[in-house]
Amino acid sequence: MKSDMQRFIEHLPKAELHMHIEGSLEPELKFRLAERNGLELPYEDVSAMRRAYQFDDLPSFLAVYYEGMSVLLEEEDFYDLALAYLRKTASQNVVYAEFFFDPQAHTSRGVSFDTVIGGIRRAQVDGEREYGIRTNLIMCFLRDMTAESAMETLEIALPYKDLILGVGLDSDERNNPPLKFREVFERAGSEGFLLTMHCDVDQQDSVSHLWQCMNEISVNRIDHGVNSLEDERLCDEIIARDLGLTVCPISNGYVAGGLKSAEITAMLEKGMKVTINSDDPAYFPGYMNENLTAVQEEAALSKDQVLQLVRNGFSASWLPAEDKERYLRRVTESWQSNTDTREQADEK
Ligand code: ADE
Ligand code: ZN
Repeated sequence: MKSDMQRFIEHLPKAELHMHIEGSLEPELKFRLAERNGLELPYEDVSAMRRAYQFDDLPSFLAVYYEGMSVLLEEEDFYDLALAYLRKTASQNVVYAEFFFDPQAHTSRGVSFDTVIGGIRRAQVDGEREYGIRTNLIMCFLRDMTAESAMETLEIALPYKDLILGVGLDSDERNNPPLKFREVFERAGSEGFLLTMHCDVDQQDSVSHLWQCMNEISVNRIDHGVNSLEDERLCDEIIARDLGLTVCPISNGYVAGGLKSAEITAMLEKGMKVTINSDDPAYFPGYMNENLTAVQEEAALSKDQVLQLVRNGFSASWLPAEDKERYLRRVTESWQSNTDTREQADEK
């Protein structure tokens, strides 16, 4: 039976700010797309595929993640991928999402930028109409490719500028510091894109990468960023700039040895704008509700703390201020109606 807390989490309207659309490719869909595209996968069935998902750090995860993308070839494939995520996450009461896509992982295989964004865009429109979920796109550069390749990708994306809210940086952080992409992000900022970057958990030079994000790139948000807790001054600066941090507990469990729920609690206690997200839900099994539940259970968070995490999701989003306020009111109303219903039940 579901606990009162689980029902509370499920009932709240939520925002997701850190999810890689390619990381939502579930094995069942991967098989279906392989068949449609006449490709043979090296697995007998879905369970054999899941068994092959062996990773315990970022590079070993990324190898499986990129390999999985081989089935994404046509516009329809990107449409099906994105619509499946929107259907699933909307069923968990996620009402707003800002999600990543990795164009270089496709253009480097001969799939055009137009094919990728065309399919995703169509899914965004249909997802909003069918499931009522509003979304925005963040284009990530792969940090283990060159800065020149990132700049070329930015230039290819310029005609689609109105469809992309911000740019980010993902993939293998080792020896690929934020500074490597300073000019690309400067250009992106001047073109009007909002800026974020992955500061993955427990990486070599995590803290100095975080400082680079702040001082050299002037990011508008930080993806992950748990290691900021190692530097008091850094935490103070993140708070002073009111930057959101998009933390991904179940992902952390796979690539960083634990959910980092104690760190999430510490961030909340400091007043940092920490949010909860699913990262790559098909590989780190769990969407929004499972991530919130995992942290709540491990850290024994109160409803007020869960509510703060959910509120942070909207206030750290890149929505216009009045839309944030509207969503935050919906959260409060949902919390109040949940409380009223429980009080009525208690009275009976
Ligand atoms: N690409 C997809 N998921 C990622 C993650 N968690 N970190 C870095 N790059 C990624
Ligand atoms: Zn990520």
